[in-house]
Amino acid sequence: MAAVDDLIRHSLHSDVVLIRSVAEYIIGGGGKRLRPALVLLSAKTAGYRGKSHLDLAAVVEFIHTATLLHDDVVDESQLRRGRKTANAEFGNAASVLVGDFLYSRAFQMMVTVGSMRVMEVLAEATNTIAEGEVLQLLNTHNADISEEGYIAIIHRKTAKLFEAAAQLGAILGGASDEVEQGLAKYGMHLGTAFQLIDDVLDYSGDAASTGKSLGDDLNEGKPTLPLIHVLRRGASEHASVVRRAIEQGGRDGFAEVLVAIKASGALEYASDAARAEALKARQALTVLPNSIYKDSLLKLASFAVERDH
Ligand code: IPE
Ligand code: IPE
Ligand code: MG
Ligand code: MG
Ligand code: MG
Repeated sequence: MAAVDDLIRHSLHSDVVLIRSVAEYIIGGGGKRLRPALVLLSAKTAGYRGKSHLDLAAVVEFIHTATLLHDDVVDESQLRRGRKTANAEFGNAASVLVGDFLYSRAFQMMVTVGSMRVMEVLAEATNTIAEGEVLQLLNTHNADISEEGYIAIIHRKTAKLFEAAAQLGAILGGASDEVEQGLAKYGMHLGTAFQLIDDVLDYSGDAASTGKSLGDDLNEGKPTLPLIHVLRRGASEHASVVRRAIEQGGRDGFAEVLVAIKASGALEYASDAARAEALKARQALTVLPNSIYKDSLLKLASFAVERDH
């Protein structure tokens, strides 16, 4: 991971000073570096011995960081990784454009690996993430979205990159189809669990731990699973509070919505859904031989659910 971090820093180079300032600002904020860790672990479980896993780990982190720069503009977020978002610090235009720089730098780097399969997986993942974010945009203020509709969004916007990260290591290692598909499936379920918990933490987290503001989802009128559960299963007075909050957006209803969520057991419901996904992720790894890398992948599935950051 230290080698990946070095590569990330060296690969940010540009003669355009604003690019370096914004890119170093967001990357320097830290982050959990989960997706690069997935690339390294899956490459090692597949017996890979070369150096390209480091490049691909940096590539997925660049793609992830580009999505964050764009996402914070779209979500009008003010806090990320414990500091002001890049849009709050440098403005929306700089964030969007440096996000584009990171995407395209990721594409330059992935080409150096020289594998058409790798490029295919990453091109598809990047395209799918964009679809997911647009699908979510279409569903802002939609209090009638189904649980399946919500899951379809988070598969695209978040789980797809986890899937790609886990699959890339298998491809590098020349793993069998069975192992590659097992790792891809693991990544998809892990990423789904991860986003379910992200959506729980938007209501129940602590900004000092998550490094992000609570209530961003409600502010945008985003119907996440805790809210969908209240709408479907909550008492009618709680459901109407939530419906109004989704339709109007804003932060004013946050306290009232939180009461409705808690009274309906909606955070437990969403956490249980995340736990079920993490279990499926672990089960997908049965095709792998035992190793310290597999153990870490198993632990990562638990972390995705138990985390507070
Ligand atoms: C944030 O991802 C975006 C989501 C998909 C929820 P992370 O929680 O992995 O962000 P960092 O990289 O650790 O900051
Ligand atoms: C993650 O969704 C979307 C991306 C794929 C970037 P969120 O909008 O919930 O992510 P955070 O909470 O801002 O990190
Ligand atoms: Mg966001
Ligand atoms: Mg978002
Ligand atoms: Mg979120």
